[in-house]
Amino acid sequence: MRINQYIASAGVTSRRKADELIAEGRVKVNGKKLTSPGYHVEEGDVVEVDGARVEPAARKVYYLLNKPAGYVTSTADKQGRPLVTELVPDSVRVFPVGRLDYNTTGLLIMTNDGDLANALMHPSKEFDKRYLVRAQGIVTRAEAARLEQGIDIGGFVTSPAEVSLLKHDRNSTLAEIVIHEGKNRQVRRMFDAIGHPVLELCRTGLGDLTIGKLAIGQCRKLSPAEVEGLKRAVR
Ligand code: URA
Repeated sequence: MRINQYIASAGVTSRRKADELIAEGRVKVNGKKLTSPGYHVEEGDVVEVDGARVEPAARKVYYLLNKPAGYVTSTADKQGRPLVTELVPDSVRVFPVGRLDYNTTGLLIMTNDGDLANALMHPSKEFDKRYLVRAQGIVTRAEAARLEQGIDIGGFVTSPAEVSLLKHDRNSTLAEIVIHEGKNRQVRRMFDAIGHPVLELCRTGLGDLTIGKLAIGQCRKLSPAEVEGLKRAVR
């Protein structure tokens, strides 16, 4: 098994991030720092990440987490902030699939299935990503239409999106937006571009999955049918 796949199936991090760990010199095989990301792990090899031995878990696990604000979507944080991994009570290590900002809440898949995670994160997989947004000020239909048509968020023009303006008070607007890409801080940058910074952001849906009634900070196992649905969607 290729080293990045081995690290991902141990639930340490995704395959892409595992490549970064190797490049940073944080991975050792049989006591020697690994230099080649193409290394294939052999029977009996001892693999260490940051000095701790890692081994692929015998079982694959799949969770849906309702991420609270104030949690980092990562398996480690130099600043010591709370991690989303701490919210999944399983003896098997999991990592997040994709990313939600520190202050974004909502739907996050957590797994130790590196293959599925990799496929889900691939840019060619255009899953609907549904967000509930509270934006500053009163967003007009014309402004929402700019978001729908595609908008320059600084060197990148977004692809068409769907926006529903749900309600507003004197100072803010509640809207739902569905996007099909996952650029860094995309929704926040889109609303910045129309002059209505995001005050609160929650991902409520990803493909066929929805956050439903799952309380903030809680996670649940994905059903076999849901896991199969994800696998089918990336096939
Ligand atoms: N878009 C953002 O701006 N932030 C997120 O966390 C997710 C999507």
